[in-house]
Amino acid sequence: MKFLVINGPNLNLLGTREVDIYGKKTYQDLTKQLKQWAKALKVKIKVYQTNYEGKIIELLHHAMKKKYAGIILNPAAYTHYSYAIYDAIKAINIPVVEVHLTNIYNREDFRKISVIKDACINSFYGEGFNSYLKAMQFLIERGNSNDN
Ligand code: DQA
Repeated sequence: MKFLVINGPNLNLLGTREVDIYGKKTYQDLTKQLKQWAKALKVKIKVYQTNYEGKIIELLHHAMKKKYAGIILNPAAYTHYSYAIYDAIKAINIPVVEVHLTNIYNREDFRKISVIKDACINSFYGEGFNSYLKAMQFLIERGNSNDN
């Protein structure tokens, strides 16, 4: 099974960005951790980060050609207002799981709204890097049950 991980704007600054909220672990730590988990779970992953909304959309479109079994998406602030990303998720026939490091429902009011949520098959949030692990495990279980 092969999964795509897409991280949105400002996540490249993990480790120095608002450390009281996002912690001291860096973006490199995140990618390293994701690759370790993928190896342990015997799946393949490709990890991207971009600060551009259009790039996220293009990565979603491109994922169809690459035959990914699922996508783990942290659109960062775009979560709260990008109907273009919502439409892109709806436009592809690959299951997308929304993830966030923090609990967006427990922060400022504008973060309590995820406009992409309804286009995704599940959401994991508030568990730091573990939100991504949960998403990976969810997609693997789903993939396995679809094989039967
Ligand atoms: C985030 C939450 C968003 O509200 C925020 O804009 C981010 C990161 C998270 O992972 O907790 O940049 O997606």
